[in-house]
Amino acid sequence: MTQKPNLSAGRDYLAIPGPSVMPDAVLQAMHRAAPNIYAGELPDMMPDLIADLKRVARTKHDVAIYIGNGHATWEAALANTVAPGETVLVPATGRFAHGWADMATGLGIKTEMLDFGQSAPMDMARIGDRLRADTDHKIKAVLAVHVDTSTSVRNDIAALRAVMDEAGHPALLMADCIASLGCDVFEMDGWGVDVMITGCQKGLMVPPGVGFVFFNDKAAGARARMSRVSRYWDWVPRAAPEEFFQYWNGTAPTHHVYGLRKALDLIHAEGMEAVWQRHGVLARAIWAACEAWGGQGKLALNVADPAHRSHAVTSLRLESPQATALRDWTQKELGLTLGIGLGMAPPGDPAWHGFFRLGHMGHVNGHMIMGLLGGIEAGLTALDIDHGKGALEAAAQAIAGR
Ligand SMILES: Cc1ncc(COP(=O)(O)O)c(C=O)c1O
Repeated sequence: MTQKPNLSAGRDYLAIPGPSVMPDAVLQAMHRAAPNIYAGELPDMMPDLIADLKRVARTKHDVAIYIGNGHATWEAALANTVAPGETVLVPATGRFAHGWADMATGLGIKTEMLDFGQSAPMDMARIGDRLRADTDHKIKAVLAVHVDTSTSVRNDIAALRAVMDEAGHPALLMADCIASLGCDVFEMDGWGVDVMITGCQKGLMVPPGVGFVFFNDKAAGARARMSRVSRYWDWVPRAAPEEFFQYWNGTAPTHHVYGLRKALDLIHAEGMEAVWQRHGVLARAIWAACEAWGGQGKLALNVADPAHRSHAVTSLRLESPQATALRDWTQKELGLTLGIGLGMAPPGDPAWHGFFRLGHMGHVNGHMIMGLLGGIEAGLTALDIDHGKGALEAAAQAIAGR
């Protein structure tokens, strides 16, 4: 009797857009006995850790660290700068902008959405019009998601700054770089971002659980004008602690600190620009393959213009329910997990099964991406999903720099 071979027995590959693959060196750095939180190595490593984090964010300004996920940093950024009853403007290019707006609403902040759909970047002209119309400057902050992980749209944050400046609007510019930091080019100070938030579980290659809020002097001024900020969210002691425990407002996430230290070592040993370039080449290899598949089939990149695509995540359309069938197949047969089509359709809607996403953030290299694409090609073939040929060849050309 011939048995179907098991092709999933090797190392699993989690190709979802976060949490991302963790380097063995990060895992090994975390594998240790409980460290002392009162003196010694752990408190001593904080000043350099902070300096190296700022090098990733490209800022000379401050950072407050929270034990929490991205949602925690959404709330922290707002709690320090925008009072209940004040207004924020949220240009949305995907699900995560709506999530941040929901967080603001929960804090009693008025949110004004400018929705640009699920496949296009922010329309800067519309944002400029809205800001110019706000003559009495009711809008206190613009909440901009740099890369929306649901749609894989990448927004031009420098252009947003320019539009705000042209409109002469004093609102804070806040950027969510949870998906993009350490993957897509980002310059906090160079682009005039006042507040930048991120998490540790994507480009920073550490298990989920720590979030960062970077803020400049203008944002510090907004904090100073707040009549009340909860002790836990207050970024002032966290960014300028007199004692180690103030970094965290309590016990440190000890092992995360070791993991983060190692991840920052890896990033800076490679070099920030080199990290960005690697993500750029790998993203172009993925796009080349997807364009080849889509040539004759139903598979399509969600964002048509490469200039507006993220280098960290790619959202794809595939006739429902084939996207789910493909994900199920690669997971079961190959040990390759692809990302669900998050937020692209209401939960329960069958259209949910017509999207999927690829994470290519952080600890990824050429052979992983070629393996990812090969796995998808095998799935399309096994499931008889109509697709164009030459995808792997196109990806190889991109990787070879042709
Ligand atoms: C762009 C973006 N913002 C916010 C979040 C929310 O982060 P978390 O799930 O860590 O709370 C995510 C999560 O994937 C994200 O990708």
